[in-house]
Amino acid sequence: MNRPWWQGAVVYQIYPRSFASSNGSGIGDLEGIRRRLDHLAWLGVDAIWLSPFYRSPMADYGYDVSDFCDVDPMFGDLDAFDRLLSDCHERGLKVVVDWVPNHTSDRHPWFEAARSDRDGPKRSWYVWRDPNPDGSPPNNWVASFDTTSPAWTLDEASGQWYLHLFLPEQPDLNWDEPEVEAAMHDTLRFWLDRGVDGFRMDVLHAIGKHPDLPDDPPEYLPIPHSALNHVPEVTLPRVRALRRLLDGYDGDRMMIGEVYLLDTSMVAEYYAGGEGLHLSFNFPPLYAPWDAGAWRHRIDEVATMIDPVGWPTWVLSNHDNPRHRTRYGSEARARAAAFLLLGLRGTPFLYAGEELGLEDAEVPPDRVLDPGGRDGCRAPIPWTPVDGHGWAVEDAWLPWPPGADRGVDAETLRRDPDSILALYRRLLAARRGSSALRFGAQRLIDTPDGALAWERTDGDDRRIVAVNFSGRAVPVDLGEEAVVVVASDGIDEGLPFDGVLRPELGIVLRPSG
Ligand code: GLC
Repeated sequence: MNRPWWQGAVVYQIYPRSFASSNGSGIGDLEGIRRRLDHLAWLGVDAIWLSPFYRSPMADYGYDVSDFCDVDPMFGDLDAFDRLLSDCHERGLKVVVDWVPNHTSDRHPWFEAARSDRDGPKRSWYVWRDPNPDGSPPNNWVASFDTTSPAWTLDEASGQWYLHLFLPEQPDLNWDEPEVEAAMHDTLRFWLDRGVDGFRMDVLHAIGKHPDLPDDPPEYLPIPHSALNHVPEVTLPRVRALRRLLDGYDGDRMMIGEVYLLDTSMVAEYYAGGEGLHLSFNFPPLYAPWDAGAWRHRIDEVATMIDPVGWPTWVLSNHDNPRHRTRYGSEARARAAAFLLLGLRGTPFLYAGEELGLEDAEVPPDRVLDPGGRDGCRAPIPWTPVDGHGWAVEDAWLPWPPGADRGVDAETLRRDPDSILALYRRLLAARRGSSALRFGAQRLIDTPDGALAWERTDGDDRRIVAVNFSGRAVPVDLGEEAVVVVASDGIDEGLPFDGVLRPELGIVLRPSG
């Protein structure tokens, strides 16, 4: 059966500032990524997603874009991008780039033009409103990152407020203006023509706002993103238009939306019956605690809400949240969690460094940078035990993650067959070697409390995956013999399964009966 690449792929997220540097600046760059592609090939992932590397004043570390069609000099230039892209393609790695359609930087020429001329042609490209009669902002929406402030900033010169769901430096584009949609489509074409394989679309649901911009009901406040009303009748036509644009290109170009609605049934709507997103992030599992019941609930939701309409995705960590190694509190749990990420039906998104078992860095108050408090998960990747961990500097833009001076680095872990890195590699290989794991149907198996087990089946190929969330051994009755393919503690691989899940164990089994 001919399946699109993104169904079988494991996507590896790279946050360019933190991945690898080629020039000793303490900040990662595109050439640095290119020189580390061996790591990814050795690990066995299929695609990379690059967080923004576009021209940006870096108020939101690149998610405030001042030119969608150029590389920020900090990260290199378009030639460096082309080299990276072609090296990836030579190795069979797909390349997905970030696309930030909801807002620009306040220093983007579009916004500068809009702000400086109330009657000019670019004014309508952003969302401007007069103040209320009492001078207050046009509605009660609050800004993400600082929910004590309105999502509006007053432009003194014109007396009007402009909308920004994020920082004041990130004015929202007005997608009701057809010229905006056309201009943003052009930015996609720019990268498609260069040969990228897809886009991760930042806060995509936010491009379709209710035309009246109504007040949020009081019960929403002060939850960040509450202003991002879910208005499918406005958003979905825009999502379908994006899909048609991608479909006009050869080679299965893919779009995955960051649909930051913490409700799986709403996320499912963005697949638009096969005419919308190919993939969507679904964050409720990321926020689930380390608990079998909580995970079972999230897995059921995906099976009943996403599976009927599209292909699911799984993600445990990214550049916006504490790493799951930190959230779950131990390496044993992080190892077992990898069996959820890579064993459940759907496309996994693996955040650079999770394969090293990285914890969030402790960031002392005088080194805090991010207005959203997300520095910890963005700590630079330690590549080597010495020499500035491969960065050729004593200190990079953020502190190193814990343990970087005690063997938590890619080079040291790679030499250790029992490391979490070696486990990720075995698990990725097991996945690549089994169409059941990559594409198979999924059925939950009855297990005692504290553990989850599920069967994956594709034709004759079958695997069973199990995760014991609890701190005690849990017996499981599979009703058949099975061989251990991969175990999170490395024990018994290649041997018959003895029917007991050790505490906080993840395991892949191959029925052998
Ligand atoms: C998304 C990004 C986040 C960024 C925000 C605004 O949530 O993942 O990093 O700050 O959008 O662009």
